[in-house]
Amino acid sequence: MRKSISCPNLELMRYGIREIVDVTQQLQALDPSLQVMGENIGDPVAKGWDVPDFIREILAGLIRSDARQVFAYTHSRGRIETRKWVVDYARRFSPSARLDYEQVVFVNGLGAGISIIYRMLAPGVRVLQPHPGYPTHISSERFHAGLESIGYRLDPGRQWQPDLDHLEFQVKRNPDVAGILLINPNNPTGAVYTEDVLEAVLRIAERYRLMVISDEVYFRMVFNQAHYVQITELAKARVPLLVMRGVSKDVPWPGARCGWLEFHNADRDLEFQAYFESIKKSVMLEVCSTSLPQTALPLIYDHPEFERWLSRYCADLETNSNAIYAILSRTKGIHVIPIQGAFYMTILFDEGILNNRQTLPIANPKSAEFIRRIVAGSNILLDKRFAYYLLAATGICVVPATDFESPRPGFRVTMLERDPGRRDRTYQRLAEAIAHYLASG
Ligand SMILES: Cc1ncc(COP(=O)(O)O)c(C=O)c1O
Repeated sequence: MRKSISCPNLELMRYGIREIVDVTQQLQALDPSLQVMGENIGDPVAKGWDVPDFIREILAGLIRSDARQVFAYTHSRGRIETRKWVVDYARRFSPSARLDYEQVVFVNGLGAGISIIYRMLAPGVRVLQPHPGYPTHISSERFHAGLESIGYRLDPGRQWQPDLDHLEFQVKRNPDVAGILLINPNNPTGAVYTEDVLEAVLRIAERYRLMVISDEVYFRMVFNQAHYVQITELAKARVPLLVMRGVSKDVPWPGARCGWLEFHNADRDLEFQAYFESIKKSVMLEVCSTSLPQTALPLIYDHPEFERWLSRYCADLETNSNAIYAILSRTKGIHVIPIQGAFYMTILFDEGILNNRQTLPIANPKSAEFIRRIVAGSNILLDKRFAYYLLAATGICVVPATDFESPRPGFRVTMLERDPGRRDRTYQRLAEAIAHYLASG
């Protein structure tokens, strides 16, 4: 090639949730008998959750009907009837939501939405990220900035609520920060934020004239007596507020690739309005987002079966989370925090307990050699090293916490196992493997 055509900032685009898949595939090629358990990516359908019949019927009905709209392009910002429904839906949960359907934009899954919202920021503008946080946000923001992520700590000592002093310190210290990202309920910690915390974040945003981005893809998935506080209800007209929602997790239909962005208070701030206009333009260039999910989603969420399905789903997630907590919290050397929402739990290793001599016995010699090779050298992070040994020795797949920019080593697991017996066996095995690994070096 006469020019270098690869992107110079590629090192800033990291996504550990998927990277562990490559390691899994290489291990399976070396050892076809390896049974992989646990899960790296939050896909309930792939983990065997049923797609309820009423959803299949809605989709089949739309496909068979004479209306051909589900096969056509939609309006580039999303089907107008569905955008109006989104406004209604937002007001069901938050009567004070200040939103018009023209301030709603559909995207091809929130993954695409995340990529657009950082791409359209002015050069040099930064958005403060939760650490640990969802790598697609962290990577996209970092890639846009060409710099490492600027984060505020989530506090494991306070059930993973944001550390507000650190958040304000980071805002003060970094004048390029123009926005704060909240993920609530949170991936990877499973925390649901309290009203006091949300109010404090809004006050910081007001004081420093920042926008708030609230990723709420899990907002219907709340359990263990938690109460979900709508930030739109607290924010009213106080700050520019971008809310992100989608169908991947609660319907659950991740393959729909359908999410939406709500620009609350877009009329209150000229800069926020201009940013919103730039996102509308960018979305227009992508032609439109998926038509069938946009047509189906009001029918799905408004179906009388939906709430019944959702409460069963949340009850099962609660049961799984409590069973997993009960098993892991008896294990020495780790800190386990019960969860209240989404379907993730992040477990931290005690300070200083990991080292690069610890191992687990790997039965297959080729796999053992492969793992020794990829963990060789002093650069590998200690929780990644643990995750690789665990995978090769037991088939249990976890994502290292440092892949979420956790300041402390640990790992994330999901609550998505369907079979209680298999769930308990897997987490017992995980607990034993942790004990063995920690004692080994
Ligand atoms: C916090 C968060 N936001 C966004 C997404 C992406 O969702 P989508 O399937 O709509 O791209 C995920 C997926 O796991 C997520 O955890």
